[in-house]
Amino acid sequence: MKCEQVVIPEFGTAEVLSLQQIEIPEPKAGEVLVKVAFASVNPIDVKTRAGLGWAAAENKDKLPWTPGYDISGKVVSLASDCSRLSAGDEVAGFIGFPLRGGGYSQYICVPESELTRVPNSVTLEAAAALPLAGQTAAQAVNKAQVKEGERVLILAGAGGVGHIAVQIAIAAKAEVYTTCSEKNLDYLATLGAHAINYHFAPVSERLQDVDVLIDLVGGDAALDALKCLRDEARVITVPTITAELICDKAKLLGFQASGMLVQPDIEQLDTLLYMVGVGLLKTEIQHIYPYTQVTEAHLQLETGRTRGKVLLDMQC
Ligand SMILES: NC(=O)c1ccc[n+]([C@@H]2O[C@H](COP(=O)([O-])OP(=O)(O)OC[C@H]3O[C@@H](n4cnc5c(N)ncnc54)[C@H](OP(=O)(O)O)[C@@H]3O)[C@@H](O)[C@H]2O)c1
Repeated sequence: MKCEQVVIPEFGTAEVLSLQQIEIPEPKAGEVLVKVAFASVNPIDVKTRAGLGWAAAENKDKLPWTPGYDISGKVVSLASDCSRLSAGDEVAGFIGFPLRGGGYSQYICVPESELTRVPNSVTLEAAAALPLAGQTAAQAVNKAQVKEGERVLILAGAGGVGHIAVQIAIAAKAEVYTTCSEKNLDYLATLGAHAINYHFAPVSERLQDVDVLIDLVGGDAALDALKCLRDEARVITVPTITAELICDKAKLLGFQASGMLVQPDIEQLDTLLYMVGVGLLKTEIQHIYPYTQVTEAHLQLETGRTRGKVLLDMQC
């Protein structure tokens, strides 16, 4: 039986994304065949498709290549040595990161170790939104060692990573400030953050005495945000492309600073799913595109204005 997957046949604009028919794969030792319900779209997918960054460099000789690190769906079958999951289980995973990818597929074989069960109380849409962005948010907040009562500034609180980071920092009882456009002020206020419109004036003119900066924008916005920090503040800068620049400047100013690269962690994904299940965390999904409209999904991400996440519906 055949199914479809999205491929990057050559690096380029969103229009290069194409569909390819493949035989539904058979799970090899240690693998599970998943019928994918939803795959989420992350900025790294867009950069890789454009031929930018290390994932593109590593995969340039493997085109056509299927992007996608976040999936949710249902287990169809398993190799005989798999014992943790069963056929019919609803699962989610942060899969094949960073080199294998493959999530934009209707069916995919994945190591059982990369998957976790989705609780009944969590939708498959929310489960697909969480893995890469949710774990980046959780790992950034953990790495910054955010503590109760601290003043935390999160740049780009409305984005895929930001809206989860804001909620995790608030759950840690921090006083959270975040930057966004006017249209997201109310949304971020409802999450419990003090939202600051960065188009109105640089954040450094509006905020002082910040203990922790979680930078999800990089470049000039991050350099400006360093002016908001108190002595010995901590900085975590997440966009890899400007991380060195921001860390060097932050250290010159006497702050502790580091970049980060998200690591898949199945127990952390379980915790995030649990938090969604009990209502401690809400995923925001701006739009779900049928996978046949993957070009539109990438164009949406390229606007840089997505609130929460964009998903691909891999079932239609
Ligand atoms: N190092 C890692 O392991 C790692 C992992 C994940 C992500 N990342 C990187 O982290 C960054 C954020 O990822 P993401 O998935 O959250 O991206 P995203 O969902 O595409 O971010 C979109 C959001 O960015 C906001 N934004 C854009 N420019 C802004 C500015 N100057 N100030 C404040 N907000 C701004 C927009 O808010 P408004 O519409 O309100 O302006 C929009 O909501 C990306 O660069 C991504 O590549 C790195």
